[in-house]
Amino acid sequence: MKDLQGKVVVVTGAADGIGRALAEAFAAGGARLVLADVDGPRVEVVGRELADSGTDVIAVRTDVSDREQVLCLRDAALDRFGAVDVLCNNAGVMGPVGDPLWELPVAEWRRVMEVNLWGVLHGIQAFVPAMLAAGHPGHVLNTASMQGVTSGTLIPEYTVSKHAVVALSESLRAQLAARQAPVGVSVLCPGAVSTGLPAKEERRLAAFGRQEPWALAPGSGSQDRNWGTTLTPAQVARAAVAAVRDGRFYVFTHPGSTDRVRARTGPLLEAADQAADQTGYETADRISRPASAGRSSRG
Ligand SMILES: NC(=O)c1ccc[n+]([C@@H]2O[C@H](COP(=O)([O-])OP(=O)(O)OC[C@H]3O[C@@H](n4cnc5c(N)ncnc54)[C@H](O)[C@@H]3O)[C@@H](O)[C@H]2O)c1
Repeated sequence: MKDLQGKVVVVTGAADGIGRALAEAFAAGGARLVLADVDGPRVEVVGRELADSGTDVIAVRTDVSDREQVLCLRDAALDRFGAVDVLCNNAGVMGPVGDPLWELPVAEWRRVMEVNLWGVLHGIQAFVPAMLAAGHPGHVLNTASMQGVTSGTLIPEYTVSKHAVVALSESLRAQLAARQAPVGVSVLCPGAVSTGLPAKEERRLAAFGRQEPWALAPGSGSQDRNWGTTLTPAQVARAAVAAVRDGRFYVFTHPGSTDRVRARTGPLLEAADQAADQTGYETADRISRPASAGRSSRG
């Protein structure tokens, strides 16, 4: 999607942070915008500001965890613009950073999964059929995270949701490619970004007044955490929009991404290499033939 001029771009989570920056970056490229956020007043303000600077834009209060609301968002987009060219499933929430995960209430797991995973799935199910029916080139950009390709002790509910978004994006890309559909996919995997995401989580947990160890908010307490280099939302949005233009799938934005991906995939590859020794399958071409093939194990 080299030329964004006049293209219709939907951005969820557009009231703040990366979503807002994505909206501004697409607007700078000449796109028309459909902005969605659960924070209705705030997304209205972003819409008005973009309209004042000449962008053709609508803002629609939408909770992406609610399928019906996402279907209404699609209808609003099609009513206004007649088509959607780019869908950015970006809305997300963080969840507590404390552990242990086995004490994290199911409601906390569910809240994160419903926004971060189901929100993306609702977007895909609402918009991709319309994009395919239109038959012209389109693109889906899903915001995952570096947490979608790594893992560790912190925010397991968030990490699990983002791994799911990466896997969902990989499957979507494969299924669209198998149909030779003109719809591309990218998955955005940033490290730390200077947004209000952790502060919102802190405020939410403070309102609960909880003392449980799992209820620790990001930025609070004595936890030894290193989020690495922090980029601005605008820097991340620039990289994401460039990837949509170039049709690139994985979008890493932060220095040090290679090391973090290696730290995850290194042990996987090592374990996979050892499989041959441990199972008696010596080489790939013998994968369906154990070393003992031809000999009867019963003599
Ligand atoms: N900030 C980071 O360090 C970072 C890093 C990697 C990935 N991300 C991801 O980037 C995306 C945007 O996060 P951000 O950092 O810009 O945070 P943010 O809080 O600044 O923006 C998120 C927006 O999503 C909206 N939102 C939350 N729940 C929603 C719902 N149910 N329906 C619709 N909108 C909803 C919020 O109101 C907010 O406007 C998220 O998916 C997040 O997981 C953030």
